[in-house]
Amino acid sequence: MLLDTTTLNQQRNFFDGHTDIWLFGYGSLIWKADFAYLERQPAYITGWARRFWQGSHDHRGTPDAPGRVATLIRAQGEVCHGMAYRITPDVLAPLDIREKNGYLREKVSLTFRGQHGNAQTAKAATEGLIYLATEDNPAFLGEAPLDDIAHQIAHSHGPSGSNKAYLLNLARALRELGTDDAHVFAIEKQLLRYQ
Ligand code: BEZ
Repeated sequence: MLLDTTTLNQQRNFFDGHTDIWLFGYGSLIWKADFAYLERQPAYITGWARRFWQGSHDHRGTPDAPGRVATLIRAQGEVCHGMAYRITPDVLAPLDIREKNGYLREKVSLTFRGQHGNAQTAKAATEGLIYLATEDNPAFLGEAPLDDIAHQIAHSHGPSGSNKAYLLNLARALRELGTDDAHVFAIEKQLLRYQ
């Protein structure tokens, strides 16, 4: 169930020689940027959808009772909104450790949303990094009925806090970005019934 991806990630040097790197956050990185960054901008990636399909045995759950956290799946025609951070390469090593349970660095194209957060006024695209947990990692839980996902999230807690706080913080951050995410908002709606 646990796969320590730290060493693997340190070999995934897609931006070797670069003095700065754009890191695209689609989960906790949107609302919990506890690392130094040079600037940040709302951005999106296309062909990806956010899903609460990754198990969390180390942050929002335990090995015996894992929580569920966000990963991305490939989804043609979908747009995933988040926050892009321009960082120096040394910032990645602590993130590799923080997100070691199955997440691998992956290269993506990302588009900045522009001054007013409107995709139609997008101003530029660039290459960046995401942390991605794919279905072949041992912590991957995969698809489940939304009510089951909400039930699991409502009852999971780990060293980083409650799984519920993770989801509610993400939903709030997405609203602040002015974006919609049907999957996240549907889980939030079910989750609020467990209060
Ligand atoms: C993120 O917020 O983009 C993120 C999600 C999972 C692991 C690391 C980062």
